[in-house]
Amino acid sequence: MKRTTGQDRSITRHWRPATQAVRGGTWRSEQGETSEAIFVTSGYCYDDAETVAARFRGEDPGMYYSRTQNPSVQMLEERIALMEGAEACRAQASGMAAMTAALLSQLSQGDHIVAARAAFGSCRWLVDSLFPRFGITSTTIDARDNAAWEAAIQPNTKVFFFETPANPTLDLVDMEFVCGLARSRGITTVVDNAFCTSALQRPLDFGADVVAYSATKLMDGQGRVLAGAVCGSEAFIKDKLLPFQRNTGPTLAPFNAWVVMKGLETLDLRARHQAATALDLGRFMQDRVPIILHPSLPSHPQHDLAQRQMPGGVTIFSFVLDGGAAQAHAVLDSLELIDISNNVGDSRSLMAHPASTTHYAIGADVRAEMGVSDGMLRLSVGLEDVQDLIEDLDQALQKAGL
Ligand SMILES: Cc1ncc(COP(=O)(O)O)c(C=O)c1O
Repeated sequence: MKRTTGQDRSITRHWRPATQAVRGGTWRSEQGETSEAIFVTSGYCYDDAETVAARFRGEDPGMYYSRTQNPSVQMLEERIALMEGAEACRAQASGMAAMTAALLSQLSQGDHIVAARAAFGSCRWLVDSLFPRFGITSTTIDARDNAAWEAAIQPNTKVFFFETPANPTLDLVDMEFVCGLARSRGITTVVDNAFCTSALQRPLDFGADVVAYSATKLMDGQGRVLAGAVCGSEAFIKDKLLPFQRNTGPTLAPFNAWVVMKGLETLDLRARHQAATALDLGRFMQDRVPIILHPSLPSHPQHDLAQRQMPGGVTIFSFVLDGGAAQAHAVLDSLELIDISNNVGDSRSLMAHPASTTHYAIGADVRAEMGVSDGMLRLSVGLEDVQDLIEDLDQALQKAGL
């Protein structure tokens, strides 16, 4: 195995993200295959005993067990790191494996975390339910409010954790301010960038320390596999994340890594196209629904920030109906093209009712605190013709009395 012809690191590092998404981190075997090989192996064999001993000592870079090293997975990791502008990346078995590893690998008993209150349900569960069992305390805040971040800092605060945009409220965090504040206080920022990916927003450019992903979403982009990734400095990945991953085992399967790599080849095209369609749909929807949560629309209170952080837009938006869960379900049940699905980032447009699905388990009180109302619907925009999507939304809204 070798890196592809001409892939001198001093040249490839300068390629732009869309080029990295197709070319970055490619290795080829002596067969010279164009598409990356899938290495379905759990272990490796060695010419002699000293070779493997040196690998375990960290003196030989070769692989010794697929829980921590696999060529297909490593290609994906290099590619994501290059796209993200990160020194290093480790792939994970799912997005939640990535969030858990990114946080627990650096938090200990007695530490404190400040987290955005609006977040994916399982991310809130980590903060509210899992961490307290290990003596890690938290403060959850309105992450749109810069002053709230500063006010929540305690002497033992180790991490700021947030999604931007958040699922499903589409709240944004001012990364330049919040990451700068964290850095000045010796706090690490962990940003969940699942809704954008590096195609639409690169948190490290705004001062973030760690970027964590559900690669299940836009990176795969076709609803096939669960996958995750954590990007950061060489030191963070080597000293914090890797020991956690090696010993707890949230490893990505080689086949799933390969599927995500194939997805990345079209990520830039898909993300930009889906975001453009999402903007057209937002313009159509804003006159039909009482509240639309779409940062790319000028009516959104954080529109200026959206333009600075993610000028390419976003492929997902939410809206709120006055008729509560009954009216939201009526819209879902009237859809003819868009699927009812709680996944996002697929090439198919998908609509979900967060209060009864992704955010059901966190309970009504936390939903109310984060602004997830019973009348909220979230639309993940796919690759269908925009006119067909508008016609489907139009007829579904009409049937639901809108
Ligand atoms: C913002 C966000 N983070 C994390 C996750 C978890 O990802 P996964 O389903 O790949 O574990 C999701 C899933 O919907 C998500 O939307």
